[in-house]
Amino acid sequence: MNAGIRAAVRTGISRGLSIFGVKRGYQGLIENDIVRLDSTDVSNILQRGGTILHSARSKEFTTESGRAKAAANLQSHDIGGLIVFGGDGSFRGANDFHREHGIRVVGAPATIDNDIWGTDFTIGFDTAVNTALDAVDKVRDTAAAHDRLFIVEVMGRHAGFIALAVGIGTGAEAILIPETRTDIPAIAEKLQRRTAGGRTSSILVVAEGDEEGNAYEIAKKIENCAGLKSRVTILGHVQRGGSPTAADRILASKLGFAAVNALLDDASPCMVGIEEGKIVRHPLADAWTRKKELDTLLARLVSDLE
Ligand code: F6P
Repeated sequence: MNAGIRAAVRTGISRGLSIFGVKRGYQGLIENDIVRLDSTDVSNILQRGGTILHSARSKEFTTESGRAKAAANLQSHDIGGLIVFGGDGSFRGANDFHREHGIRVVGAPATIDNDIWGTDFTIGFDTAVNTALDAVDKVRDTAAAHDRLFIVEVMGRHAGFIALAVGIGTGAEAILIPETRTDIPAIAEKLQRRTAGGRTSSILVVAEGDEEGNAYEIAKKIENCAGLKSRVTILGHVQRGGSPTAADRILASKLGFAAVNALLDDASPCMVGIEEGKIVRHPLADAWTRKKELDTLLARLVSDLE
């Protein structure tokens, strides 16, 4: 997100605008935690994970009175437009804010889950996938050396995009995601077939939101079903940090730039995204009313590369 903030600040300044940063998301907006940002304030942040503006969940912003306080704060700084880096929850808040107070809003999709309709990729996804990929490669060494079955859990409370990409990228023996039905007996049978065929280790990649449960629950089910013991590795929040990949830095730079242009073109309320390499704009509400489908080719590879 730092690359996105940097791009928005510098694009805005190059267009003659004054740019402010809101600390701690909507909560900071309500508490008037708003600072002027100049070009040098965003120097040397492109390569850093997290966000210099910090982030927070805000219950108060879900209320009309909270949003009214936020609007008054923006007006006190003479701010006419808001760029929101976030996921569908943040975009819903932005839409309500626009509807009630007429403030121009543009969403820039940023979530490691990549589950936002209207953009091929969201900021953070590529970095999370590469971090998890590296971890699974390392787990694979132990799995192979000790002849073990490992179950690795990646993030994705409601979406399997990370698990699917990581599973394909690491050659996982099965990928368990909430979007497709997980068949425990079929997975257990496959693992037994592998053992019978002389394979001594396997790795399953599971999204934390799989309908059969988290990695520990899946390990128990596979043991109950086929008597197979496994080790569980939960990658957790390591996937949300670290220096961003080149792809994420470039994506965030494009989206920060595109968000300022969308504000200036009065395209609010909209979301900017990247589809087939091109910058696109969609009505903001599409981001949560439409459902992003899994990449069908990747989904097919799961079975074809078995
Ligand atoms: O950003 C979405 C997500 O990464 C989910 O995949 C995950 O379940 C959740 O965030 C974790 O959020 P928190 O930091 O609140 O535990």
